[in-house]
Amino acid sequence: MKVQQRSFLAAALALAGAPSVDAVLRFSCSELVTERLDPLVFPGAAQSPHLHQIVGGNMFNITMDPARNNIADEATCTTCTFSEDFSNYWTATLFFRARNGSYIRVPQRPNIDFDGARGGGMTVYYTPSYQKTKVTAFQPGFRMIVGSPMYRTAAEAAKFRQLTFTCLETMYTRTGETTSMPTAPCKEGIMANVRFPTCWDGTNLDTPNHSDHVAYPSSGTFESGGACPASHPVKIPQLFYEVIWDTRQFNDKNLWPEDGSQPFVWSYGDFTGYGTHGDYVFGWKGDALQRAMDDNCDVACPTLKSQSIATGNQCKQEKKVAEQIDGWLKSLPGDVEVTGPQPGTGSGGNPGNGGGNNGGNNGGNTGGGSCQVAKCAVVGQWSGCTVCASGSTCRAQNDYYSQCL
Ligand SMILES: *[C@@H]1O[C@H](CO)[C@@H](O)[C@H](O)[C@H]1NC(C)=O
Ligand SMILES: *[C@@H]1O[C@H](CO)[C@@H](O)[C@H](O)[C@H]1NC(C)=O
Ligand SMILES: *[C@@H]1O[C@H](CO)[C@@H](O)[C@H](O)[C@H]1NC(C)=O
Repeated sequence: MKVQQRSFLAAALALAGAPSVDAVLRFSCSELVTERLDPLVFPGAAQSPHLHQIVGGNMFNITMDPARNNIADEATCTTCTFSEDFSNYWTATLFFRARNGSYIRVPQRPNIDFDGARGGGMTVYYTPSYQKTKVTAFQPGFRMIVGSPMYRTAAEAAKFRQLTFTCLETMYTRTGETTSMPTAPCKEGIMANVRFPTCWDGTNLDTPNHSDHVAYPSSGTFESGGACPASHPVKIPQLFYEVIWDTRQFNDKNLWPEDGSQPFVWSYGDFTGYGTHGDYVFGWKGDALQRAMDDNCDVACPTLKSQSIATGNQCKQEKKVAEQIDGWLKSLPGDVEVTGPQPGTGSGGNPGNGGGNNGGNNGGNTGGGSCQVAKCAVVGQWSGCTVCASGSTCRAQNDYYSQCL
């Protein structure tokens, strides 16, 4: 698969320090904060339903209204090594579930070249094109989400082309990407690969479900230089996150469930991995990203200002959500309910599933279960399908989320 070769190439070239044939801007962003906030899907909510790890600029907040704040001008530091990048990038976090049902957070580890990145962070790539054609950089106020935490089946996940996992035999493994979680221990960890769509409608900086303003090429792929659809004619860089989950301390099969299923569950209650998703809020200073794209930069990018990983590590945020996320936990943060099957069992359904109002998602093979319409979650208490308390009404945030407001 071409994609894999490309990312391997990028990593390999980065190591060799050689100029890249295929320009791929690649850099490290350390952890900024890990907490239950989501300013895109749940703006203003004191807690979002599930836990996220967030990297990038220190303007990350409960609400990030582009009309109120110009991130790039107001941020004072960033955890990224390109120091003009005050964007925020985030994903869900991973937990290990022990045989006794307790959960513990799986740490992250830095990627090749980025030793010392606090909290492991993530590797961010912006690829203009593999054909050296021009792309339009994201604009101030731009944000998007790829993937959906509600998905539990391959059919649902197929809506997004390039959300995958790599089972790291070594830190250099870049082949064998799967769309569901690896089912056997991965010696060096599990890498989550999050690639965003590469075509933009050219007008909307955001849309209600944070996804409609971007699209995949209508023919071919980004990698093959495929054309963008008429509805989304503007080629934008391919944004790509690599996040490495350090599963090494959990790789002893004696710790895994007796039925042979894999023990890792995402913070949004998913053992399958089909609900993997990534969030992005653009925050590059001035035209820095456009310049980097026009120059076909790679790991070295003279047109951009950079800082060391150690300097980036000094940028951090205090948690705004006071709750325990580390150590052994009785439930996932936010009491997130686990839904869908546990890969490896072939049986579907997990202990503790399907109770109360979430029965429709049990087994995960029902194309979204019975939650197609009423999916209200009381803010901070995500539990799938919920009936709103009297006095509040269910307001759709997108296809998959709604809130009682
Ligand atoms: C985050 O939002 C709160 C409340 O709106 C505000 O008091 C605080 O200054 C904001 N923090 C940043 C870094 O903008
Ligand atoms: C559950 O299992 C883990 C791993 O064996 C152990 O460290 C933890 O103390 C156990 N928790 C409870 C409540 O028994
Ligand atoms: C966003 O919402 C539209 C309906 O407005 C829907 O057609 C589309 O599939 C949704 N996209 C995603 C990625 O959820």
